[in-house]
Amino acid sequence: MNLEAQPIEDSQLVERVIRIGGHQIELLHPRDSESLIDQHAFEQDELLPYWAELWPSGLQLAHALTQRRLSHMRIVELGCGLGLPSLIAAAEGAHVLATDWSAAALALLQRNAARNRVRLQTMQVSWASPRALIELAPFDLVLAADVCYERRNVALLLDLMPRLATESLLADPRRSFTDAFLEQAPRFWCAQTSEREGVAIHRLLRHRS
Ligand SMILES: C[S@@+](CC[C@H](N)C(=O)[O-])C[C@H]1O[C@@H](n2cnc3c(N)ncnc32)[C@H](O)[C@@H]1O
Repeated sequence: MNLEAQPIEDSQLVERVIRIGGHQIELLHPRDSESLIDQHAFEQDELLPYWAELWPSGLQLAHALTQRRLSHMRIVELGCGLGLPSLIAAAEGAHVLATDWSAAALALLQRNAARNRVRLQTMQVSWASPRALIELAPFDLVLAADVCYERRNVALLLDLMPRLATESLLADPRRSFTDAFLEQAPRFWCAQTSEREGVAIHRLLRHRS
């Protein structure tokens, strides 16, 4: 697992103000994600600090969430990165558990939650060893934005997501491995897709067994 235990220093952070629905989120994020590359982690596991950017999928998933009633739902976000969907869901009254394998991402998300006066939980989880997370299931909803960007993610997520909830929202900028994910998904899911600003939002419902 990518431990990245060092929190980001203040001098590396900049603020972006994002308005979504009726919410205004002041999001601290690293100024330059490439400066965070850990050579050792990259050589060992090809790990890059993808968590440190707000990807279009995270932004569009956050927008899509404001179209739903989320109050009191138990929601888990996978690969949250900066965690904008988690912040919006928490601001809408959901009980949110935001997860990522990057400890630095989770530390910054807790800071952003406090900064925006919302409460959420975080948990360091790798999709390859998710037992502790599965023990907390069932959730009402799984959120995942831009997580199908590597081949190795597909089988892990296909296995994990149906174990967590009967419904998932997967936001995706049409990454090449998403097709593989969706082709195999009908074994577990029936998908509906909408589009926002070039990002597909797949609503995945687990078949009743
Ligand atoms: C492309 S980024 C997307 C971040 C965020 N969801 C967004 O849309 O802005 C992918 C995220 O997945 C996380 N991630 C990648 N592989 C993972 C794994 N095997 N287990 C847990 N998290 C992982 C990364 O740390 C990163 O935060």
